[in-house]
Amino acid sequence: MRKKIVAGNWKMNKVLDEAVALTSELVNMANDEVQSDVKVILCPPSIYLTTIKKYLESAPNFALAAQNCSDKVSGAYTGEISAQMLQSIGVEYVLIGHSERRQYFNESNAVLAEKVNTALANGVSPIFCCGESLDQRQNEDYIGFVKNQITESLFHLSEEQLLSVIIAYEPIWAIGTGLTASAEQAQEMHAALRQHIASKYGAEVAEEISILYGGSVTAASAPELFSSPDIDGGLVGGASLKSREFTNIIKAR
Ligand code: G3P
Repeated sequence: MRKKIVAGNWKMNKVLDEAVALTSELVNMANDEVQSDVKVILCPPSIYLTTIKKYLESAPNFALAAQNCSDKVSGAYTGEISAQMLQSIGVEYVLIGHSERRQYFNESNAVLAEKVNTALANGVSPIFCCGESLDQRQNEDYIGFVKNQITESLFHLSEEQLLSVIIAYEPIWAIGTGLTASAEQAQEMHAALRQHIASKYGAEVAEEISILYGGSVTAASAPELFSSPDIDGGLVGGASLKSREFTNIIKAR
């Protein structure tokens, strides 16, 4: 049975007091209002992971993700954070390949494949992000482009390794724009990616993989998105910084 997941990517936002306040509000709201079969994954700035983990001890359906990790195991890489470090502080997930990192830090599918390997080797589950640009959607084979991101960064994995991966489809033209993909647009891509996975690993494995949608998800758009057969939850940006809005999105899952 695929996991129902709602993840909140805080990006580079909140100072410490604000991060603690948001976490406390979310845990209190979720404990009162959210059914326990939804996995809530918070993706705060890495500097806060240890602090926030303490506030999640009373929230068993909450987990933590880092927003990135190095493709290197350890060594002279100033400023980098390794998957081994994340595992050592009890972080269970890590975002890999977010479009902002692909854009601003030139992360290629090959480098992301190495990040996936390093994360899995250290017991941290990748949340692998993929998605097309507006130009690609309007002028190219946008489904083929996203399938290729999956092929080049994930299709070297064993069946067992792939089952530890969560996929997040985030059309770049919907990220931070307020222009949410329609449920039909998102479902089209999710179904195509699930079929692509089935073509390599078989239908049983493909049916087990959670595929999240990200890109201007709000409490208003979440119910229709989450009612789509191949959308297993959301990776939420801006709306995850507001406790009531994010809780309402979780409740929609
Ligand atoms: O990782 C989630 C993020 O890229 C989506 O951002 O603000 O469009 O929900 P937003």
